Amino acid sequence: IKRNKVRDLLKSTEFGKEVIVMGWVKTFRNNQFIALNDGSTLSNLQVVVDFENTSGDILKKITTGAAVKAIGTLVESVGKGQTVEVKANTVEILGESDAEKYPLQPKKHSLEFLREKAHLRFRTTTFNAVFKVRHALAFAIHKFFNERGFTYLHTPIITASDAEGAGEMFRVTTLELGNPPRDEQGNINFKEDFFGRSTNLTVSGQLEGELGAMALGEIYTFGPTFRAENSNTTRHLAEFWMIEPEVAFADLEDNMDLAEDMLKYVIKYALDNCAEEIEFLNTRLLDEEKNKAQKDRSELSLIEKLNFCLDNDFERITYTEAIEILKRSKPNQKKQFNYLIDEWGADLQSEHERYLVEKHFKKPVILTNYPAEIKSFYMRQDDNCAEGKQTVSAMDILFPGIGEIVGGSQREERLERLEARMDEIGIPKDELYWYLDTRRFGTAPHAGFGLGFERLVVFVTGMTNIRDVIPFPRYPKNAEF
Ligand code: 4AD
Ligand code: MG
Repeated sequence: IKRNKVRDLLKSTEFGKEVIVMGWVKTFRNNQFIALNDGSTLSNLQVVVDFENTSGDILKKITTGAAVKAIGTLVESVGKGQTVEVKANTVEILGESDAEKYPLQPKKHSLEFLREKAHLRFRTTTFNAVFKVRHALAFAIHKFFNERGFTYLHTPIITASDAEGAGEMFRVTTLELGNPPRDEQGNINFKEDFFGRSTNLTVSGQLEGELGAMALGEIYTFGPTFRAENSNTTRHLAEFWMIEPEVAFADLEDNMDLAEDMLKYVIKYALDNCAEEIEFLNTRLLDEEKNKAQKDRSELSLIEKLNFCLDNDFERITYTEAIEILKRSKPNQKKQFNYLIDEWGADLQSEHERYLVEKHFKKPVILTNYPAEIKSFYMRQDDNCAEGKQTVSAMDILFPGIGEIVGGSQREERLERLEARMDEIGIPKDELYWYLDTRRFGTAPHAGFGLGFERLVVFVTGMTNIRDVIPFPRYPKNAEF
């Protein structure tokens, strides 16, 4: 079947041409006007049904959610809000949709409601827009790294190592006859299990990525990662996608430059290539904010916020400087934080991150040189320390409305320093012999970072809950399908 996509027809001026369209009915008015959507664009095509020559049985079945095929003529539209429409000669029902039972109404549903109907929410304009933007951002990421000569390295999803050392992993085992092998005590015997050892779903491809970078020079990963952290927040998922570039012969400065360039590149790509979607999401957000109290209104619209991010250098400050700012913010704004920062060494809560970005600097911020104590074992130990305590060449990028969007560092390339740190915090060196070999044979300075893909999509779409920017969200007590 040769069909015409709605996207193409809406731009066409070939009036009088015979066309075939297929799509889902959004609304059907006056027994005559179908608002038809085929997913190719957010806009609907108006199909005018020749109701006098269409059987009552068919007219009855043109209901919201039904799939239909219409054959007719492309004509200039006289109605307002559209330039073309299709005057249908015949309408065929491809798939009925019982109006009584179909959960989606031709009205605006809340995002909470749509999360409960997650299998059908794809059919709403909002989710169409979100997933189109998500696609464009994924494409832009590959385009950015490809243009810079990076190699896309596929790191494993099943792994034996805990890259972040945070113990938030999902275990992998087999279900042999409904049960994995067990020892006398009833514990899973991983030695006899599929891999002959215990394995997990990856929390990060970084350690394997470093192996690639120390040979290919510049690599990036882009794949699903898994964290069994019990965080029921609007920023955490149990399954999320991460982009992790790793660059040989790069230091912290190079790493920050790369991350800032990448973020600006992909945001610009989305603005240039998803104008219709971002415009729709912008309007959606403005409508939502109109209903909120004045004080909750953000000062910038979504589009202004994205452009602002492109036009300004990210603020780069050290953790120590950030703590000073947060301490100073206390006296007159005591109720600002649930967790007050009293001491150097404390980890930042997302409310602190958002204070720095949204209230203090009012732009994206890169925080560097965190205390070693609150960061991962592989980060490079600084030679100049703050407050007499060890800091590391870490960098976190904080975004408005999000908090941490990127986490990265220059890596500890000195074998003795790395081993000493692993001993200190009890990371078994023998299990990571393969990682340490990069430091044993031809070690060199290198750096990399991880971008949480869904947090980027949240930022660019203006959605407020991370569960609304991934097609099939996984979070505690939720894995519907
Ligand atoms: O800061 P994280 O834990 O860093 C790493 O995993 C490093 N190995 C990255 C690297 O240097 N190659 O995670 C990186 C980013 C965070 O900044 C955040 O954006 C995102 O991943 N992230 C999550 N996104 C959604 N749900 C979660 N549970 C997330 N945990 C981290
Ligand atoms: Mg982090």
